[in-house]
Amino acid sequence: MKTTIKTVVATSAVAGAAVLATAYFGLVNVGADDPHFPAVHAFLAMARERSIEVRARDIEVPNLKDEALIIAGAGNYNAMCMGCHLAPGVERTELSQALYPAPPDLTRTGVGGNPAAAFWTIKHGIKATGMPAWGKSMDDPYIWGIVAFLDQLPRMNAEQYAGLVASSGGHQHGGGESQPHDHAGQPAAKTHTHKDAKAHRH
Ligand code: HEC
Repeated sequence: MKTTIKTVVATSAVAGAAVLATAYFGLVNVGADDPHFPAVHAFLAMARERSIEVRARDIEVPNLKDEALIIAGAGNYNAMCMGCHLAPGVERTELSQALYPAPPDLTRTGVGGNPAAAFWTIKHGIKATGMPAWGKSMDDPYIWGIVAFLDQLPRMNAEQYAGLVASSGGHQHGGGESQPHDHAGQPAAKTHTHKDAKAHRH
């Protein structure tokens, strides 16, 4: 029994040292154009899914059919998410193609059958991927608006998408941007007075 334990400890120490040495000597390629080995990929996917599932368990989901919530989410999605997660009629963008892991096409997956998990992911982001923690600049009700919008997104065509975004009044102020900006989404011109800038902030 004692020798078995010693063997296990010694083997783990050797394996640990090998992993450390591999990383230290630069053998791990961190390039985003070099995919993970399948086993590493499977491990990371499992860790991400379980991490989110466990943390989203007790989140209470509001009424996602609430039309005001859906409309509020449309403008924010188009301004903050579309470049990575696409839209009806937008098959790919430079970001959607170049990021690794690739941002999922949310026009297909929507909330992925778990709105609480989508809410958690949007609020907290995902480490070491391109997925930002939007909760740093956006309050919960705005995030729920985006979740409600995502819940509808897979059934939307390009026209319906554009209509909803337009009726949403574009990017909602208070929806998450931290820089003052004009209504074309560009940084505010220097001529803006302090008051203007404030009105354009949340
Ligand atoms: C810069 C690119 C980028 C932006 C902008 C971005 N995301 Fe993501 N998002 C990602 C990536 C990459 C992943 C996948 C991470 C992974 O596979 O671990 C992801 C994952 C997600 C997921 C989980 C999907 C799933 O099936 O697991 C949701 C939901 C999501 N994003 C919603 C949003 C929303 C809503 C916004 C806008 C408020 C947004 N994202 C903005 C890159 C982005």
